[in-house]
Amino acid sequence: MSKALRYLGAVRPEAAGHLLGFYKHSVKALDDKTRFLIQIVTKVAVGTERGLRQYAPKALKAGASKEEILDAVMMAFPASGLNKLLDAIEVLRDLDLLPEAPGEQKEVGDHVLGVITSFPMNKMTCVHRPDGDLIVFRTGPETAKVYLSRCPHSKTTLCKGVDHGDRVECRMHNWVFDLASGRCLGPDPEGKAGLIECKVRVEGGRLIRVD
Ligand code: FES
Repeated sequence: MSKALRYLGAVRPEAAGHLLGFYKHSVKALDDKTRFLIQIVTKVAVGTERGLRQYAPKALKAGASKEEILDAVMMAFPASGLNKLLDAIEVLRDLDLLPEAPGEQKEVGDHVLGVITSFPMNKMTCVHRPDGDLIVFRTGPETAKVYLSRCPHSKTTLCKGVDHGDRVECRMHNWVFDLASGRCLGPDPEGKAGLIECKVRVEGGRLIRVD
């Protein structure tokens, strides 16, 4: 639920009560992945970038593949028309939530982020990449979490956020993210998307992005 809806519920409870109740109780039979994919369809159809940025990462986190997210976008076409659909594709490509086009396959060497021991333990390190900055958070001798630097709320780069050690804070709207889990810690974290995690492996002492 958005902050704005919660605000309406607080200041105009009579007017907003039924609407809030509808949102709370209307979906009972759908699993999270299906629900978030349908949310993508509706966000594309009405043309809300903010909603798309909120729900597309949730769909991925709930188990949707990038192909399924693309299908959800395409499903919106009869209602959205072409321009909203193309706008949505731009937003989702920006978030790295759509499959790569065949000509965009990255070279294997492009995936090596660095020697694992060169990343300090439990601290945020930014790695600058031609296709977008990444945040590396080393969690053990041979383990690390890697996230897109883009704030899931909007386009702000979290590499320029406030470094709180094991948390990073977006300078734009002050969302705080836990770097060990990627979860949004607040303010008011309910329903907020977490950081977008990249798949990595450690091979020969090197940290390699594999998605
Ligand atoms: S861009 Fe809004 S919290 Fe980061």
